[in-house]
Amino acid sequence: MRAMKRLVILISGRGSNMQAIIRAAAAEQWPAQIVAVICNRPQAKGLQIASDAGIATVVVDHQSYADRATFDAALAAAIDQFAPDLVVLAGFLRILTTEFVSRYQGRMLNIHPSLLPSFPGLATHSQALSSGVKVHGATVHFVTPDLDHGPIVAQATVAVEENDTEASLGSRVLEQEHSIYPQAIRDFIEGRIALENGQVVRT
Ligand code: GAR
Repeated sequence: MRAMKRLVILISGRGSNMQAIIRAAAAEQWPAQIVAVICNRPQAKGLQIASDAGIATVVVDHQSYADRATFDAALAAAIDQFAPDLVVLAGFLRILTTEFVSRYQGRMLNIHPSLLPSFPGLATHSQALSSGVKVHGATVHFVTPDLDHGPIVAQATVAVEENDTEASLGSRVLEQEHSIYPQAIRDFIEGRIALENGQVVRT
């Protein structure tokens, strides 16, 4: 029998991507266990969803730390006590230090609500609408020190409609996120993708 992979999921808020991952892991019987959900905001809604699913939750509140380096060190310590094979950023809205990112090189994924390299940062749906792109979407990528960039694992596209608002466009993108992120994570834990020399390789 294959060894169960250990996943730690990092969230900051609502946790809908985390929930999609929890559901897919159970429904598809992944050879993986979500060993912890770690959050930087004590009031985040996603914490309740995780504990209702019987998953250990940890809060590392960024407001309790003087600077990014000390916060990231505390976050790494919290992660490492669960010895994960993969760290999953699921709406984790903190800029991470290079030192932190390097520690999880090749074993940390992120989802971003745009077709990277377009529209890194925040408010991606309003960026898409004001730029007039006809196609928008979401990207799963390995995390590198470059914010919202990194070797791309998966993308899904959404057509931008004439009368779209930030909310309508965002909800169609989110639906795609909930489909591509669990699939990409499953591909990683089942050994179909890896990061080699800064590039995604498929086996
Ligand atoms: C998602 O749309 C995710 O792609 C985005 O935050 C949202 C979190 O929602 N992440 C980023 O913008 C990362 N730069 P969720 O908590 O319901 O998954």
